[in-house]
Amino acid sequence: MKIRMRVNGTQHEHDVEPRLLLVHYVRDVLGLTGANVGCDTTSCGACTVLLNGESVKSCTVLAVQADGAELTTIEGLAAGGSLHPVQEAFREHHALQCGFCTPGMVMATLSLLTENPKPTEAEVRLGLEGNLCRCTGYHNIVKAALAAAAALDGPAQEENAR
Ligand code: FES
Ligand code: FES
Repeated sequence: MKIRMRVNGTQHEHDVEPRLLLVHYVRDVLGLTGANVGCDTTSCGACTVLLNGESVKSCTVLAVQADGAELTTIEGLAAGGSLHPVQEAFREHHALQCGFCTPGMVMATLSLLTENPKPTEAEVRLGLEGNLCRCTGYHNIVKAALAAAAALDGPAQEENAR
């Protein structure tokens, strides 16, 4: 089937098998390997991307279901050589160890902060509960998400979050 999709601002068109998962389209057809496959069963969140601005686990979506959509992957966040504020917060707060879950965590955090720009710690934990970190670095991930919220809200708030 022919599908068209705008991915990180670039239009793509491909013939794909109807059974092709979105995560395999992104990784194997487009060569964007940031979204990882940790489970293939909708459990870990390592494959999280934004589909029309909403976070989805791309191992759960068929590529053909995303036909006509706007897709953002982790590769689309950094602009002009600068990390996105969520990426910067993860870096600054050591919110990654092996890094396998990180692309999904960053995308899920971005989606959470879009829906709820000033989450409490409990809301961050709830919002990210669909993303697993096998290195169990949750404490710093939550700290990074709160710092990212503050950074996106303005520099003065960021100071308060330290
Ligand atoms: S690979 Fe998609 S949720 Fe784990
Ligand atoms: S940093 Fe290793 S899985 Fe999260």
